[in-house]
Amino acid sequence: MELNNDRFLRALARQPVDRTPVWMMRQAGRYLPEYRATRAAAGDFMALCRNHELACEVTLQPLERYPLDAAILFSDILTIPDAMGLGLYFETGEGPKFRKPVRTTADVEALAVPDAERDLDYVMRAVSTIRRELNGRVPLIGFSGSPWTLATYMVEGSSSKDFRHVKAMLYDTPDTMHRLLDTLAAAVTDYLNAQIRAGAQAVQIFDTWGGALSTPAYLEFSLRYMEQIVAGLIREHEGRRVPVILFTKNGGQWLEDMATAGADALGLDWTTELSEARARVGHRVALQGNLDPNVLFARPTAIRAEVARTLDSFGAGPGHVFNLGHGISQFTDPDRVTAFMEALHELSPAYHRN
Ligand code: CP3
Repeated sequence: MELNNDRFLRALARQPVDRTPVWMMRQAGRYLPEYRATRAAAGDFMALCRNHELACEVTLQPLERYPLDAAILFSDILTIPDAMGLGLYFETGEGPKFRKPVRTTADVEALAVPDAERDLDYVMRAVSTIRRELNGRVPLIGFSGSPWTLATYMVEGSSSKDFRHVKAMLYDTPDTMHRLLDTLAAAVTDYLNAQIRAGAQAVQIFDTWGGALSTPAYLEFSLRYMEQIVAGLIREHEGRRVPVILFTKNGGQWLEDMATAGADALGLDWTTELSEARARVGHRVALQGNLDPNVLFARPTAIRAEVARTLDSFGAGPGHVFNLGHGISQFTDPDRVTAFMEALHELSPAYHRN
């Protein structure tokens, strides 16, 4: 099927575009009143993820409001550990929790790789429904958490600030940690390939907590497994390349290593300058980012100035996908996002005249 807007895929391939494509991490979410209404109708967050029609509805909501160049599957990174039987639940205001965290070598040995087509069929049904409803409007992004990031939630049993259980496992019993990450890498590869077969046209790996590791630990326990996943992914589907984006939050110091992992693009948070990142790795990969999501709490003139600065930091020419440096806050005023989009659409064409 024809794509009416392929700016996002072209930018990832570092091909010329007329303006800088944009999407936002967590673009479908609680800052939108229509999202809150659909979630209330579904019951709770996981019920929304499991209902392919409602998951499709919320995926499309931000596209109705804003001129975005990509849609992202509405789901969560914790569907994999849930399918492994850890018992995912969400306590209001407290984030995700697992009834059965993974704490011992025996717990790790008991884990099996889920069959994505069977155990995560609700995700694949959402992907194919969204593709059908998008009808070529923009490409659909699939996603997964990185093995390390999934491991942090599985071992801690919840969100964490200090990662004490998962780091104790890493340093006390590295073989156990490697076994866990190996199982997760196999699960993520199978899951992303199932999303690609169901219709995802690009995939992003969210390594939200890679930046909590030391450099040697990052290379050994996070990047290595993302590299293994990238090597196992379907890279061409429906006659088109399926680009892979790696996003390690706070990973700016490791860009050179990340650029060798086989991905098409690297996602950046706002602590790394695009100009510097481009000079370091821009000849190998496209770059995605990196407006601080909290800039959207400022007034439109300040938003516009930061959008201008971000575009200028990457500079002229192809290879930039505009995004936030992390997920949009639930407290964002949707009108501030309008100001962001207007500034971007007005300012970005100047960077693509050659
Ligand atoms: O970007 C998108 O629009 C797609 C949807 C998406 C969600 N989660 C929806 C969601 C994506 C890509 C994710 C990924 C995700 N989930 C990550 C990695 C991305 C990142 O932020 O770095 C992580 C760490 C998770 C785990 C998770 N799920 C957390 C920490 C939370 C927040 C809990 C809270 O109450 O703040 C969730 C829940 C979640 N996932 C929500 C949404 C819209 C909010 C739940 C709700 O509607 O109540």
